[in-house]
This record gives sequence, structure tokens and C-alpha cells, in this order.
Amino acid sequence: MYSGRGERGLRRRIIAGNWKMNKTVDEAVTLIADLKGLVKDATDVEIVVSPPFTALGAVREALRGSNIELAAQNMHWENEGAFTGEVSPRMLRNLGCMYVILGHSERRTYFGETDEGVNKKVKSALLNGLLPIICVGETLKEREEGKTEEVVTRQTKAALDGIKTNEAERIVIAYEPVWAIGTGRTASADEANRVIRIIRSTVAEVFNSRIADEVRIQYGGSVKPGNARELFGQSDIDGALVGGASLNASDFAAIVKA
Ligand code: PGA
Repeated sequence: MYSGRGERGLRRRIIAGNWKMNKTVDEAVTLIADLKGLVKDATDVEIVVSPPFTALGAVREALRGSNIELAAQNMHWENEGAFTGEVSPRMLRNLGCMYVILGHSERRTYFGETDEGVNKKVKSALLNGLLPIICVGETLKEREEGKTEEVVTRQTKAALDGIKTNEAERIVIAYEPVWAIGTGRTASADEANRVIRIIRSTVAEVFNSRIADEVRIQYGGSVKPGNARELFGQSDIDGALVGGASLNASDFAAIVKA
């Protein structure tokens, strides 16, 4: 059974900006130009930006020579075919993406993504050399009904189903309580850490405690410069998935520095 100690030494913090459906190509390039200079000295943290599909190519060019990695916000699990409106893992790799966000609550809520579909995407991402950032988190109703643990455990197990142990360390998980996303309400640092420890124990159950110690688990949901430091001071929070505050270069840079 997982000891629950968590050894920070094994886990490099990762701050990812999820731009969602924001920024034209021009706006995206301007944001990167501002951000690059602000975070160029941050070496002990991994920095990732996730622009909309339309801006990935231009952002890739704008990121050249920087310490910032590129992520996509979603993908299909197939590599090609008759799937109008979809984008494949192979296309994302070809565009220079290193990461892909999968199972974001907005995808689950507005676009009908299921645990099963998220699992297919995780498998396909790994197969295609993309590192998945898997989002899990409970809704307000589920929290009020005392189901937080049950929901995050179910989502985590489903997403990781059938993943080989030797691929597991490449996965990043983001704990994003749905009620904290874009609302200005953050889970308290203690509470976020508590749920993240539950997720880490689930990872230990699915794989083993070595993997659980290595897998990075971010917190997401109204992370701002003002609350980042407290969140990152927790034993098991390995960074953040940042929405709103990632659209502003100085706010995002302040979170990276925290
Ligand atoms: P937020 O979004 O920081 O705007 O709350 C987080 C997310 O949805 O990833």
C-alpha cells in the first residue's frame, strides 16, 4: 500500500496555462513574446502553454529557444479518418506538442466526454508520444453529497485503465474541482492537498507506490498569483493547471515564480 509520504525530490513542478477558447493567432504570439522574457530564468519548474488548435503552429514558432513547452487542449484518439472537426495525436506531435490536456471538465460537461473516451485518449496519446495531462474533479453537487473521493477515484482509475506501468510515469494528473474553475473560488490549499493525496493513493493502487511518488499531480481551479504560493507549499501539489490567469503574461509569470 502507498505510504503517502510523497517525495518531492522526484517530482519537478509543472505549471501549465490552459488558454481555452481564447486568443487569435496574433494575440497568442503577443502573449508569448511577453511571457518568454518574464519566465526565462525559471529553471526549476516546467512551464507549458496550451493555446487553441488554431494558434499551435504560430506559438510553436514563437516559443523557439525558450524554456516553455507546447500543449494541446484536446484530441481524438484515432490518428486519421472520417471524424469531421477533430484533430489527431499524430497531427499534434507533428506540430511540436509535447503535452495534451485530456478530460477537462468543460469537455466532460459540454461535449459529452466520458471516462471511457478519456481512457481511449490517454492510451492513444501515450502511444503517439504525447504526455497526457488528465483532468479529474468533482462538481459542487457531488462535493455537497460527500462524493468527492468516490468521483476522483473513479475518474482516475478509469483514465488509467490498461496503461502499462512503464508508461505511467509520463502521465500528469490535474485535480480540478469543477466548482473552483473560473469561479474565483479555490479549494483551500489543505483541502486540495487532501484530495490530491487520495488521487496519489489511487495511482499507487493502480500501479505501485514508486509510480505514485513520481507522477505529478497539479491543482487547477482559480489559481492566481495571490494563492499560488500557499498551494505550492503543500506536500503533494506539484504545480497548477491555470485557466484565466494564464491569459495574462505577468499573472502567469507570477504563478510560475511562486
Ligand atoms: P481557471 O481554470 O484557472 O480559470 O479556474 C482552470 C482550468 O479550467 O484549467
